Amino acid sequence: MAATTIIDCDPGNDDAIALLLALASPEIAVAAITVVAGNVGLDHTSRNARAVAELAGHPVPVHDGAVKPLLRPAPDASHIHGDTGLKGATLPPPSRAPAPGSAADHLRAVLRAAPRRSVTICALGPLTNLALALAIEPGIADGIARIVLMGGAIGLGNTTPAAEFNILADPHAAAIVFAAGAPIVMVPIDLTHQAIATAPRIAAIRAVGTAPARLAADLMAGYPPRAKFGFAGGPVHDACAVAYLVRPELMSGRDCRVTIDV
Ligand code: BDR
Ligand code: CA
Repeated sequence: MAATTIIDCDPGNDDAIALLLALASPEIAVAAITVVAGNVGLDHTSRNARAVAELAGHPVPVHDGAVKPLLRPAPDASHIHGDTGLKGATLPPPSRAPAPGSAADHLRAVLRAAPRRSVTICALGPLTNLALALAIEPGIADGIARIVLMGGAIGLGNTTPAAEFNILADPHAAAIVFAAGAPIVMVPIDLTHQAIATAPRIAAIRAVGTAPARLAADLMAGYPPRAKFGFAGGPVHDACAVAYLVRPELMSGRDCRVTIDV
């Protein structure tokens, strides 16, 4: 049976592609989406998550979360993801409002009621929502089967030489999450920089012909390669964390101790 999964995200082109993949995968039971300010502001990440879930035909509840990191100012990656957060795509506005209850409150309620190590958290943005939930109620860590998160770097970062965007956006939140005691699978940019949206891959996805496939292709085409890395397309970071949940044999890793430099 697919593990109950909550996706915490900040869509964002690659978050949206990750949501499409998760919502199309029977291996993952997406019970809710929680959203955080990250690539763009919370008004956009919330709207985008609701619109993408509706287009995917799985209008799971979307809970609004933190409008800013714990201590740092609100991040902004609109130079990559566009002003709306979904560069290159036009989506009908969502018909649903955000679900009642904040992201942190929803995470606490679900995890408090869950059997030990039963809920998967797939985190694709700054870790503010999860940190807030864990700071208020640390015992909820017991309900987490694992946190599969896109973030961090083993080598160079992508936002500064030392830091990746999601961790740099809210390092204090990341420090709380990494110290919480729940099992963590970290999908860093060293991995996601191998998942490049090249023109032939975008064409193959577009040729599927469905509305989610067309949206994924538009989002990949709208997510330009960054000159400083010299890639032939944009890295589809967040979809890699979802891909790990669907097909873990695609990836390998090792156990490491991680502390966050704040
Ligand atoms: C991460 O930063 C964001 O811009 C992407 O959505 C992804 O989660 C990659 O560093
Ligand atoms: Ca993201």
